[in-house]
Amino acid sequence: MGDERKLPNPGLTLPNSLTTFLILLSVTSTSSSPQKTRPPLPILPLPSSSQLSWQLSNMALFLHFGPNTFTDSEWGSGHADPSVFNLTRLNASQWVSVAKEAGFSRVIITAKHHDGFCLWPSEYTNYSVKSSPWRDGNGDVVGELAKSARDFGVQLGIYLSPWDRHEKTYGLTKEYNEYYLGQMTELLTWYGTINEVWLDGAKGEGAKDMEYFFNCWFGVIHQLQPGAVIFSDAGPDTRWIGDESGVAGSTCWSLFNQSAAKIGGTDPLYSRGGDPQGHDWVPAECDVSIRPGWFWHASEVPKSALTLLDMYYKSVGRNCLLLLNVPPNSTGLISNEDIQVLQEFKELRNSIFSNNLARNAVLHSSSTRGGVDHNSEYESSNVIQDSINTYWAPEEDQSDWVLYIDFEEPVTFNVLQVQEPIHMGQRVIQFHLDMRNEDEEWNKVIDGTTVGYQRLLQFPSVKSKHLRLVIDKSRADPLISYLGIFLDPFSILRNVSDTSSGSNRTSKANKSDSGSIHPFWPPESFAFNYFCISSHYILKSTIEEKVTRDGKVDGQI
Ligand SMILES: *[C@@H]1O[C@H](CO)[C@@H](O)[C@H](O)[C@H]1NC(C)=O
Ligand SMILES: *[C@@H]1O[C@H](CO)[C@@H](O)[C@H](O)[C@H]1NC(C)=O
Ligand SMILES: *[C@@H]1O[C@H](CO)[C@@H](O)[C@H](O)[C@H]1NC(C)=O
Ligand SMILES: *[C@@H]1O[C@H](CO)[C@@H](O)[C@H](O)[C@H]1NC(C)=O
Ligand SMILES: *[C@@H]1O[C@H](CO)[C@@H](O)[C@H](O)[C@H]1NC(C)=O
Ligand SMILES: *[C@@H]1O[C@H](CO)[C@@H](O)[C@H](O)[C@H]1NC(C)=O
Ligand SMILES: *[C@@H]1O[C@H](CO)[C@@H](O)[C@H](O)[C@H]1NC(C)=O
Ligand SMILES: *[C@@H]1O[C@H](CO)[C@@H](O)[C@H](O)[C@H]1NC(C)=O
Repeated sequence: MGDERKLPNPGLTLPNSLTTFLILLSVTSTSSSPQKTRPPLPILPLPSSSQLSWQLSNMALFLHFGPNTFTDSEWGSGHADPSVFNLTRLNASQWVSVAKEAGFSRVIITAKHHDGFCLWPSEYTNYSVKSSPWRDGNGDVVGELAKSARDFGVQLGIYLSPWDRHEKTYGLTKEYNEYYLGQMTELLTWYGTINEVWLDGAKGEGAKDMEYFFNCWFGVIHQLQPGAVIFSDAGPDTRWIGDESGVAGSTCWSLFNQSAAKIGGTDPLYSRGGDPQGHDWVPAECDVSIRPGWFWHASEVPKSALTLLDMYYKSVGRNCLLLLNVPPNSTGLISNEDIQVLQEFKELRNSIFSNNLARNAVLHSSSTRGGVDHNSEYESSNVIQDSINTYWAPEEDQSDWVLYIDFEEPVTFNVLQVQEPIHMGQRVIQFHLDMRNEDEEWNKVIDGTTVGYQRLLQFPSVKSKHLRLVIDKSRADPLISYLGIFLDPFSILRNVSDTSSGSNRTSKANKSDSGSIHPFWPPESFAFNYFCISSHYILKSTIEEKVTRDGKVDGQI
């Protein structure tokens, strides 16, 4: 549609009293019409229903588990003896309950990693749980996980590595594709509903060269599990973000061209930002491990809850799903240290995001679809309701798109949340938040680029009674489903603009999309105490942080 507009003159905004007068006028002129205001047209591309359900789940837990857990390795050679898979207390219910209690609504298991060992009793190989001492060869990790996930109401995904260092047909294109699809069919027909199939293009140096029949695999997966999303570097349903640090681009489109990406050989910058011209809907998933490695190692410890919170802002807060790996240990359980960090991470999120200050504000807008602000399907107060189905829509053909947020008393805050009703397409290209000072002047708080399903922006704390969210550029009339104003007392803003791009923040901090933020920087190192109160205990942590040169923060709890 390409209806891209830039607002030249924000000074044209009408004074509030005049806006109110116009609103009253339009009430009288349209109240005689009994018809409901027609909804705006969606703008292509659109998400499928499984993509929508995937996006609404926000976070998934990855479970890397297998012989590597017992051999202290990351990439097994494929020759580990199945007897190493010897454990006594495996409890998949513990994995799922840990995930659920920490706020994760989906778990994904490495049914087969690169070493080729199968966590389910595949009939196409004996390199599996069948040949292990665990439960005398009668165990089935995937089966137990599927049952527990169903019991807890958590969604299930499987990872089936294309690269297989054990299977002898690997390297023979036809035979191995048959083997892979045979195994995929077992996984997708033995265990009930599968919500996600995860595959990657990882392959070691010197691995045999062969072709994977991806399109054939994708066809079979969608045929057997129509509700499942397929993850790979290039989609079709969700794409890899391009790094393994849990960080998305500050500009992050769900729009993408599948044809411009290649599994095992994508351009990380294209993956990170998506494509404003893209014709496919392929939102991104940010995978990262809670520990340095993907498999459990006795010598490694989990990251701090504050580090996870930072990743949350840069993944879920940038229109992506956070896929956090929490590897079960060699006892077959998730370790206590990891459970503790997950619990703290949840308490941090709850304490920040459970109190949307905007709920106590009066909202109005530059215009409202249907012409009436407080008597319409599309009124501005929809943005404080927790549903993507209700949203503010401006009147068509407007020269500005503004949401005003007025408080009775000044509020102090340092986080902005914005959401688009993505079932109508992703629209916003650029926006900013302003606050009004005592001299009635508007000052910019923060600039942002894409919104998508959810955008979180952090900035140094500011205090004001009057705010306005201005949409500067949009692919079509912008629609806003949620607006949140929060105070995060835990995160300390680093010396980088939030809008700079994750793993390359320093070099990009001056790019035009980084905008201006309130000039305040924290000292180079600091310490503070915080309390998290849960139903079970009071936790007091001392957090020592050092701002490192690349803008990353090392936090220890
Ligand atoms: C498995 O572990 C048990 C208990 O630690 C031990 O008794 C048994 O010998 C082990 N089996 C193998 C095959 O290593
Ligand atoms: C497995 O974990 C679940 C959930 O934490 C727990 O309720 C159950 O008692 C555990 N089972 C065993 C055998 O430890
Ligand atoms: C697996 O099967 C192969 C033959 O297909 C056999 O040589 C091997 O001993 C079997 N291994 C186990 C652990 O049963
Ligand atoms: C994606 O496709 C659109 C046309 O649908 C095209 O305009 C755009 O340039 C493509 N992007 C890339 C990176 O090829
Ligand atoms: C695995 O985690 C459980 C706690 O869930 C713990 O009891 C057990 O000792 C851990 N095993 C190892 C090898 O660390
Ligand atoms: C913040 O960034 C600016 C510009 O990149 C740099 O000059 C300054 O030293 C940085 N301050 C700290 C505390 O890192
Ligand atoms: C960081 O950005 C610079 C310039 O934009 C680029 O040349 C470099 O490859 C980037 N590095 C990474 C790790 O993305
Ligand atoms: C980055 O921005 C600062 C402040 O706007 C400016 O002083 C500096 O020269 C810029 N640096 C680069 C490399 O563009």
